[in-house]
Amino acid sequence: MNTSLGGGTLPQRRALFVLTAGLLSFSVNAATLTRDNGAAVGDNQNSQTAGPNGPTLLQDVQLIQKLQRFDRERIPERVVHARGTGAHGTFTVSNDLSDLTKAKVFAAGQVTPVFVRFSAVVHGNHSPETLRDPRGFATKFYTADGNWDLVGNNFPTFFIRDAIKFPDMVHAFKPDPRTNLDDDSRRFDFFSHVPEATRTLTELYSNSGTPASYREMDGNGVHAYKLVNAKGEVHYVKFHWKSLQGLKNLDPKEVVKVQGQDYSHMTNDLVSHINKGDFPKWDLYVQVLNPQDLSKFDFDPLDATKIWPGVPERKVGQMVLNRNPANVFQETEQVAMAPANLVPGIEPSEDRLLQGRVFSYADTQMYRIGANALQLPINAPKVAVNTGNQDGAMNPGSTSTGVNYQPSRLMPREELQSARYSQTALSGSTQQAKIQREQNFKQAGDLYRSFSQKERNDLIESFGGSLATTDDDSKHIILSFLYKADPEYGTGVARVAKGDLARVKALAEKLTD
Ligand code: HEM
Repeated sequence: MNTSLGGGTLPQRRALFVLTAGLLSFSVNAATLTRDNGAAVGDNQNSQTAGPNGPTLLQDVQLIQKLQRFDRERIPERVVHARGTGAHGTFTVSNDLSDLTKAKVFAAGQVTPVFVRFSAVVHGNHSPETLRDPRGFATKFYTADGNWDLVGNNFPTFFIRDAIKFPDMVHAFKPDPRTNLDDDSRRFDFFSHVPEATRTLTELYSNSGTPASYREMDGNGVHAYKLVNAKGEVHYVKFHWKSLQGLKNLDPKEVVKVQGQDYSHMTNDLVSHINKGDFPKWDLYVQVLNPQDLSKFDFDPLDATKIWPGVPERKVGQMVLNRNPANVFQETEQVAMAPANLVPGIEPSEDRLLQGRVFSYADTQMYRIGANALQLPINAPKVAVNTGNQDGAMNPGSTSTGVNYQPSRLMPREELQSARYSQTALSGSTQQAKIQREQNFKQAGDLYRSFSQKERNDLIESFGGSLATTDDDSKHIILSFLYKADPEYGTGVARVAKGDLARVKALAEKLTD
């Protein structure tokens, strides 16, 4: 069935086809096999040939179209987060945030449809889900104000704090371009220049880097966002999803066992639980800061390498995932999750990493999916779209107006005063400089000390094992970061990675937190 007949279930689409066919006096039965132009196929088993022994004929348009469509089945995979799985559900507000934001998604009593895509970061589509990686936790909210995407991870912090470093970081994480082989030493060569990564590297090499399932994993918005209320007041918030299934990770021995049995253990788990009606749930929490409180911390609260310790969490509502996609390509692959998909009342903070993301996702999606990606059913908002943006490849729209500009007296389109961005006071000059209040190691030490003895041992073995093959200078610099975070941590990893502890201590002494 041609997808231009729209979304819906197969019976719905059949009914639509029969209706359309009836109105236009078509005679093809809805169950008849057709080509993309709707014409019936006479033989889908045997190509048309010139007699019993002659060559295949170019005029067999079914054969040619089938091969042409097959040849073009892939679109570019995501440059990161290629391996993913998605599910539909709803988000229900239990404690509204009307005091903080005008966004309807957080108004009292709101129930908003959502689509979530979970993912791994570094490795390609179909790579084993047991590989150590942060996990993506991206949620598209189809809100009454338009679509809002909260594109987060399972870890509450990120490796870097400035978007200009992201392409280099990903290149270092990906396989060696000469051999296509993973190589830890390339990663540590890079990260030995990035002390702010210490906390998130500690997450990565802990068992949180190998979750047992997507259901048993928390999610985090990572960045600070701004919430803006009807009075124009601004608050900074961090979002956190907490799994009601509890948290479960695989330790290094379990990883080997699971990988030997199932390289899709996380997708299998999610799909099967939803199929049997055991719907996973997460509660959404926010941490809230007044703008004047940002200066009160001994680190920069808008730095994505930091959590906000001690800031209370306020519960907002609950998400339940209750429906698997009907078609993985059309939904999970074509979904365009983007930090630029914001709605009035939710704005980016000045976080330098988030500022880059606001551009990067929408840009890559125009390349990966196309200029009209947001018109696809999985990406289209549930509210009317009324824009002068037009044309482009694969445009499935049905525009009939000639007024493709604004303002116009012929067809006025209102600019909503309440949708204006909030205002931020500025001072100083343009610059290219590090943030102040870096505090690169303290939260890494706090995280290490929060682990049980077994979790510490697993972390030390995993980190030390990966670091062992790194060049001597990079290895010792990384070890000094870990020692600075916590001497026990640095000493343990140095033992496994066969580092020189005296050299590690000397390097650590030169570091300031
Ligand atoms: C400047 C920093 C970053 C840049 C430039 C960046 C860039 C990208 C790009 C280009 C994609 C592919 C999008 C697509 O093809 O649809 C992507 C996917 C993703 N990124 Fe980032 N990223 C950054 C940091 C982060 C951070 C900090 C997080 C978590 C808070 C994150 C979470 C994700 C997730 C979850 C996806 C997959 C979305 C999906 O499932 O479709 N990224 N990123």
